Amino acid sequence: MISFLVNNGDVQVDAPGDTPLLWILRDWLNLTGTKFGCGVAQCGACTVHVDGQARRSCVTPVASVAGSAVTTVEGLAATAGDGRERHPLQAAWIEVQAPQCGYCQSGQLMQAAALLGETPDPSDDDIRNGMAANLCRCMAYVRIRKAIKLAAQAQNGGRR
Ligand code: FES
Ligand code: FES
Repeated sequence: MISFLVNNGDVQVDAPGDTPLLWILRDWLNLTGTKFGCGVAQCGACTVHVDGQARRSCVTPVASVAGSAVTTVEGLAATAGDGRERHPLQAAWIEVQAPQCGYCQSGQLMQAAALLGETPDPSDDDIRNGMAANLCRCMAYVRIRKAIKLAAQAQNGGRR
């Protein structure tokens, strides 16, 4: 049995330890916000947080998160810690209408949240570098960068 937290709830799974965390989230826990893209750590669609760090869940064996705290896009709002319905990134995403098809977007949000956790006031280069490994086939990169800027301003200036 492998025990860990997902979005602050206790989870125990009786799964082979090498099962990708992505499958546990989607198929066992029905947390389908996290997406399967490439399966080989190349696209970022499956990005979640493990103990606050962005992690590619498609190549993360579930055994490696035993005792850790996993956050998925379904739990992102709660990490803002202010009781609001949406994380500032989610609010900014809506404001700039960042997604096109939407498939990459939960991974983009989780990567952006990790970026703002480490760099609360990112420069354009910080955002470009921090988000470079999250691919978007719809080329929504400009809107994603704009939304991250907006969220950073909101967090730092208390807006929203
Ligand atoms: S599905 Fe995990 S990085 Fe592409
Ligand atoms: S919005 Fe379609 S892949 Fe990014």
